[in-house]
Amino acid sequence: MFTFTVIFVLIFVLAASSTALQLDSRRTALSKVIGAVPAVTKVPSVALADSVTPTTSVALNSGSRFPLASFGLQVYDDSTVDVGRPRSGLAGNQKGFAKAVKDSGVPREQLYICGTVLSNRVSGEDAAYKKTKQGCLENMDAMSVGAIDHLDMIMLDYPGPNDDSVRGQWRAFEEMKLMDKTVDDLAVSNFSAQQLDAILSNEKSIRPTVNQLPFSVAYHPGGTRLIDYNTERNILVQSWSPLSRVLRSDFSDLLEAIGKRYNKSPAQVGLRWIVQSGASFCTQSRSRTHFAEDLNVFDFALTETEMDAISKLA
Ligand SMILES: NC(=O)c1ccc[n+]([C@@H]2O[C@H](COP(=O)([O-])OP(=O)(O)OC[C@H]3O[C@@H](n4cnc5c(N)ncnc54)[C@H](OP(=O)(O)O)[C@@H]3O)[C@@H](O)[C@H]2O)c1
Repeated sequence: MFTFTVIFVLIFVLAASSTALQLDSRRTALSKVIGAVPAVTKVPSVALADSVTPTTSVALNSGSRFPLASFGLQVYDDSTVDVGRPRSGLAGNQKGFAKAVKDSGVPREQLYICGTVLSNRVSGEDAAYKKTKQGCLENMDAMSVGAIDHLDMIMLDYPGPNDDSVRGQWRAFEEMKLMDKTVDDLAVSNFSAQQLDAILSNEKSIRPTVNQLPFSVAYHPGGTRLIDYNTERNILVQSWSPLSRVLRSDFSDLLEAIGKRYNKSPAQVGLRWIVQSGASFCTQSRSRTHFAEDLNVFDFALTETEMDAISKLA
């Protein structure tokens, strides 16, 4: 049964105040991690966590800093490095990722690692709790391959089918943080306002820090509605699929024209639009050039007129 879908790499790099040398060395460090993971399916995410500044990271409701730019590793696979149990029940490549981190020599404290748990296909408080708990333990088991014994964040991939199930999922997450002490921050994905309130209705619950949602130039129904219901609850949106469909000509022609003013690519303008809309993003890439581009969106700002014009594209 597959329990994690993604673990993504969150990157705390590209501080506006950083020197070019610092940027280069951090990119190189991350490339060592990424480069060490052979390509294919689903996985985790890591990030270089030093040099946190307001331009590249934001404070979560927990007080932790969170990178605005991060990378999912679904495009990589660990079949060649998971020698002992190739193709275990875990989704794809967490172990390969963890091993690659270890082999890279990048210090753990320079990485921001978020695991995910897929436990939405069971119903009822107890069943959802057990399934989620299992997922939490499986995350840590996979990470132990790379001697990683602590996650910066754990994310529920999808809400359970009803409020009781959501509360069971969340109980397991709270245990991971408070009892097991193997994770700092708790996050959700694809949660509606009502599903968030299934957690928040208990005043003693730990508040989700991040809600990962589809949000992009090509998909923002109701303008900032997706951002607004999260902001009202002091929860940060992280966009998944931030570039999906965005690079088609019906969107990218305008992004390209605007990008020329700043010497930025259409993808960079699309990602910048997300950040200025009030969200963070999680993209992925097999290309080192694109990878570097996607991090390099913190040294320019779109005008209000440009933001409005882009918003009107969808
Ligand atoms: N929670 C959920 O339900 C959920 C669902 C889907 C995805 N996700 C998360 O979101 C992450 C990203 O998903 P996604 O693949 O749909 O993301 P995406 O960012 O919308 O699309 C990635 C694609 O954009 C291309 N790309 C990236 N940077 C580029 C650049 N600078 N210029 C041109 N093309 C660029 C990549 O191609 P190249 O390889 O050629 O660069 C890749 O094909 C996943 O890894 C996962 O962690 C979460």
